[in-house]
Amino acid sequence: MSAHPAQAPGPRVTASALTAMKHSARPIVMITAYDFPTARLVESAGVDAVLVGDSLGMTVLGHDSTLPVTVDDVVRATSAVTRAVNRALVVADMPFMSYQASYEEGMRNAARLVAEGGAQAVKLEGAAAGTLALTRGLVEAGIPVMGHVGLTPQSVHALGGYSTQAKDAAAAAKLIDDCLALAQAGAFAVVLECIPAELARRVTARLYVPTIGIGAGGGCDGQVQVFHDVVGLGDFLPRHAKRYANVSAVIADAVATYAGEVRAGEFPTEAQTTHVDAAVVVEAEAASTSARGGGSA
Ligand code: KIV
Repeated sequence: MSAHPAQAPGPRVTASALTAMKHSARPIVMITAYDFPTARLVESAGVDAVLVGDSLGMTVLGHDSTLPVTVDDVVRATSAVTRAVNRALVVADMPFMSYQASYEEGMRNAARLVAEGGAQAVKLEGAAAGTLALTRGLVEAGIPVMGHVGLTPQSVHALGGYSTQAKDAAAAAKLIDDCLALAQAGAFAVVLECIPAELARRVTARLYVPTIGIGAGGGCDGQVQVFHDVVGLGDFLPRHAKRYANVSAVIADAVATYAGEVRAGEFPTEAQTTHVDAAVVVEAEAASTSARGGGSA
C-alpha cells in the first residue's frame, strides 16, 4: 500500500461550508474513522466530514462503553486520520472527562486534538453550563465546535442505557433549548443522536447551523454513521444503522484461506519469494561467528 494519502479533488470542507450546504439543501455526509487506511477509504468515497469519534473505545479498543477512552487515544487516532484526509472536515471527539472537570483542562485538551492530532474541529457532548462556556472559549480561540445532544454516550450511566431520548414534551423542550444555546455559544453544527424524527425535524428548522442526525430520522441536514456498522465490521448493528457490506465475512474468509495455504505448504509461492546465489549462503555460514552457538541444527 502506498504511504501517500489519497488526493481527493476539491477544496477542503470547512465548518462554514457545512452551513452553506444546509442552506442550499445539500445533505451532509459524515462517517467515523480511527486509522489511516480507513480514513483514506472514506475520503476517496467523497464524504464531507470524518469524525474521530470516542466510539473508537467500543469499535476498535473492545471496551463496552466510550468512558475509558483517553485524550491520548483520540490524539493518536486523529493524527492517523488527518495524515490521510485532505478534503473532508476532520472533527475529533473530546473524550469523557477531558472537558467536564474544568474549563482550562477542556481548552488544553481541545488544543491537543488540533495541534497534535491535526483536527479542524472538536465535538463536545451535552449543553451543561460548563460545556456552553467552553464552546464559547474554544470558538473565541479559533477552534470550531460541534455540539452533540440527545443520546450522549458519555452520560450512559445517568441516562440509564442507550435508548431513544427526549420522548416527552418536557425533555423535548429541553433538547430544543440546548440546541439553541449551543448555536448561540458558537457551535457550527449539532449532532442529534437517537431522538424522535419529528423533534429532529423541528430542531433542524429552528437552527441556522446544520443538524447531523444518527438515529434521528431523515429530516436532519446530514447524517453521521459509525464506519464499523456501515461496512459490517461489528457484531452488533444498532437499529439506527444500516449495513452496506459484510466486510467481516470477507476478512474472515481471506485469513482462513491464508491459514489453510500456509498449513498446506501452498504459501509462499515463487511469486512471493526472492533468491540469492547459493554461494552467498555458504560464505555467510562460514563467516558467521554464532553459527555453532546454541540452537543451530
Ligand atoms: O463517537 C461517535 O462515533 C459519535 C457518533 C455516534 C456521533 O459520537
